[in-house]
Amino acid sequence: MCNSRTLVVPALLLLLLVLVSAQGSGSKTPWQTLSGGAPLAIARGGFSGLFPDSSYAAYSFAIMTSLPEVVLWCDVQLTKDSKGICLPDIKLDNSTDIADVFNNRDKEYVINGVATKGWFSLDFTSSELSNVIVSQGIYSRSNKFDGNLFPILTAEDVSKQLKPAGLWLNVQHDAFFTQHKLNMRSYVLNISKHIIVNYISSPEVAFLNGIKSRFNQKTTKLVFRFLGKDETDPSTNQTYGSLLKNLTYIKTFASGILVPKIYIWPVDPKSYLQPHTSLVSDAHKEGLEVFASDFVNDFPLSFNYSYDPVAEYLNFIDNGNFSVDGVLSDFPITPSAAIVKTLVISKYGASGDYTGCTDKAYTKAIEDGVDVLDCPVQMSKDGKPFCFSSINLIDSTDVVQSDFSNLTTSVPQIKSDTGIFTFSLTWDQIQQLKPVIASPYSAYTLYRNPRNINVGKFITLSAFLDLTKSTKSLSGILISIDHAAYLAEEQGLSVTDAVLDALSKAGFDTLTAPKVLIQSSNSAVLQKFKEKNNYELVYKIDEKIRSIDEPTLKDIKSFADSVVINKASVFPDIALFLTGSTDVVKKLQSYKLHVYVETFSNEFVSQAWDFFSDATVEVNSYVTGANVDGVITEFPATAARYKINRCLGLGNNTPAYMSPVQPGSLVELITTDYLPPAEAPNPVLTEDDVSEPPLPPAAPVSPTASPNSASPNSSSAAGPAPNAQPKISVSYLLSNLAMMLLAALILF
Ligand SMILES: *[C@@H]1O[C@H](CO)[C@@H](O)[C@H](O)[C@H]1NC(C)=O
Ligand SMILES: *[C@@H]1O[C@H](CO)[C@@H](O)[C@H](O)[C@H]1NC(C)=O
Ligand SMILES: *[C@@H]1O[C@H](CO)[C@@H](O)[C@H](O)[C@H]1NC(C)=O
Ligand SMILES: *[C@@H]1O[C@H](CO)[C@@H](O)[C@H](O)[C@H]1NC(C)=O
Ligand SMILES: *[C@@H]1O[C@H](CO)[C@@H](O)[C@H](O)[C@H]1NC(C)=O
Ligand SMILES: *[C@@H]1O[C@H](CO)[C@@H](O)[C@H](O)[C@H]1NC(C)=O
Ligand SMILES: *[C@@H]1O[C@H](CO)[C@@H](O)[C@H](O)[C@H]1NC(C)=O
Ligand SMILES: *[C@@H]1O[C@H](CO)[C@@H](O)[C@H](O)[C@H]1NC(C)=O
Repeated sequence: MCNSRTLVVPALLLLLLVLVSAQGSGSKTPWQTLSGGAPLAIARGGFSGLFPDSSYAAYSFAIMTSLPEVVLWCDVQLTKDSKGICLPDIKLDNSTDIADVFNNRDKEYVINGVATKGWFSLDFTSSELSNVIVSQGIYSRSNKFDGNLFPILTAEDVSKQLKPAGLWLNVQHDAFFTQHKLNMRSYVLNISKHIIVNYISSPEVAFLNGIKSRFNQKTTKLVFRFLGKDETDPSTNQTYGSLLKNLTYIKTFASGILVPKIYIWPVDPKSYLQPHTSLVSDAHKEGLEVFASDFVNDFPLSFNYSYDPVAEYLNFIDNGNFSVDGVLSDFPITPSAAIVKTLVISKYGASGDYTGCTDKAYTKAIEDGVDVLDCPVQMSKDGKPFCFSSINLIDSTDVVQSDFSNLTTSVPQIKSDTGIFTFSLTWDQIQQLKPVIASPYSAYTLYRNPRNINVGKFITLSAFLDLTKSTKSLSGILISIDHAAYLAEEQGLSVTDAVLDALSKAGFDTLTAPKVLIQSSNSAVLQKFKEKNNYELVYKIDEKIRSIDEPTLKDIKSFADSVVINKASVFPDIALFLTGSTDVVKKLQSYKLHVYVETFSNEFVSQAWDFFSDATVEVNSYVTGANVDGVITEFPATAARYKINRCLGLGNNTPAYMSPVQPGSLVELITTDYLPPAEAPNPVLTEDDVSEPPLPPAAPVSPTASPNSASPNSSSAAGPAPNAQPKISVSYLLSNLAMMLLAALILF
């Protein structure tokens, strides 16, 4: 429970609480958007609810306060000299001071059959308009920012000055400009050669029909905008009400539709919500994305929402039956609060409590509220894919004490010392092994629950898929694949084929939920899954890095949707004191790559001192301080409980104990003589680290390649203890701790 101070914070700051209560009530369905991804927040004219529509302030504030993926919306109007400027209406007097600057230059035009008086962009050159400023056009909103003299921006300005994650151009009037010898078609074709335009919408069928063959809908999506059902599209003379009946036709020239929100949830004249229409599912069946417009926080909502705008968004994006693919809002912070959902991704299931990848670890993770359950796939000698934390059975089984200890071998491509590898035992033999819970911090005498040491059994990939397929609370499953090239070349085992086959047999090719995530640190593996376009491809960067260069980001974007990085690539440390933060998360997210971070554990020795030996403080610092999209944890219960913490989402009123830590602040308190020696900074990730040769086909195994070259007894003699996962981080922690002890000894 958060303290009672929170009762007085303004409604806006309480947004997340609503989200939280929605989650608390068990609504943890994955997104039911067309793509399965999170819905888009689209900022109409930027944060136009506060700043003048389409001003630099409105656009930059939208980026500052919203999801990193926020799309900036520009209503394009053409000037006399064919420049595309962003202003909300074809009449400029509504949103600028043009009536004062050029007081007698107003005109009357017939627009879609209606005589309209005012100042129109087509009567002014762009150089004339450089003397005009944008202003607040909606009387009920504050005009106090007009004095900042924000200039009119072109679409190109918005793209180049603000570098949004997405740009949406709305062409409300093509017929009118065409009538006046200005060519909107040439304009959009030309501008999209100079800047990235992600969406083009228009309420005119003929306009979209005329440009559809010129755009690759993978880069620029065309969206048909519906206006009031009785209004008429000037290019076809059909009402929007009648066009709505023929979505198959709309799909011939658009990949999505933008509709007023009452098309989806109608409201009666007394402002009560009526049952939803079937529009979203109908359109999704046609393969059309659905975007809903008219979201504002400062206009009375239907009574059913109790004046809570987040409740309204959630009704559109998380109602259990459908989700729209995006919302067009004047207050983009609000949908961001509703959409933001840090994923809790397990590491080997609840491996902090049970042996990783056993049935027990998996059912515990599900009970704990994990969002994405993981299965690292290993291959048995007889080609059975199964879930196990490592290719080396020594890590979490009693194989060393078993009859199979004579299968110890050395495979330098995998491991510098010897191991007993999964591909040396058949699945029948592996099932005879007892699980042994890992205790990665046993060097500190921190053991994991001894009662659970030999509890649970290992499961095949298909058993894992059967379990997860029927678990409604999961939003995804993560299947990770390592050593694919070695297994194919040296053991004749194709792990990628085994995974594709199991997924398809279990029906995941057609299931929309849970979503399948395929993870590998080998880009060639991800390439093999590329044509399965409903799978999310996750690239794992094993190295600790401090940055990534541009060409490498482009490369990664070409084969992955998401990236897993190490905690130290977000907040680097020396001797477990954070030294600052890197730009890695920001850079990846600027390429619309989701960023998942590993590995979170509850044992305090796994955390930097800055987190006060408190796993929740650590998770919070990565989520709210570094904005990561997911945390990969051995203790999903901790991260899942953090997500429903009532002290989150309170903005400036966030209590100090729930604010992210300031990386680097603690290390400053250390006097020079105590400072641990400086370490070389982590490297920058470059293309060489990312490119991989294509996967070799699975070769037939020659008898000589069978693993048995090492001495039978080398493992028990010199190998690691059965249940100590030899992780780099352990020795790293050890050496740092030793260093600190040494420093303490010198003092006394
Ligand atoms: C500008 O447009 C808005 C929205 O259409 C309207 O509410 C407002 O009254 C208009 N203002 C002026 C000055 O015409
Ligand atoms: C195309 O766009 C560029 C960049 O805005 C501009 O410089 C150029 O004049 C445009 N060309 C035409 C034919 O409009
Ligand atoms: C729409 O109706 C107007 C007026 O009746 C007519 O001039 C125009 O040609 C019609 N357009 C189409 C596409 O049918
Ligand atoms: C949908 O529109 C197309 C093109 O106008 C037309 O050929 C088709 O008959 C329409 N279908 C229905 C069911 O109205
Ligand atoms: C909205 O509230 C009214 C009055 O309480 C209720 O009758 C109606 O069913 C509610 N609408 C929806 C969609 O729940
Ligand atoms: C979802 O669908 C079910 C069954 O069709 C219906 O009973 C329920 O009211 C729907 N919920 C929402 C929020 O539309
Ligand atoms: C390993 O030991 C088992 C059981 O003791 C035996 O059956 C098997 O032949 C041995 N394998 C090798 C390669 O020595
Ligand atoms: C087995 O271990 C013993 C003791 O460490 C060693 O003397 C012996 O050479 C080893 N056997 C083999 C075959 O390597």
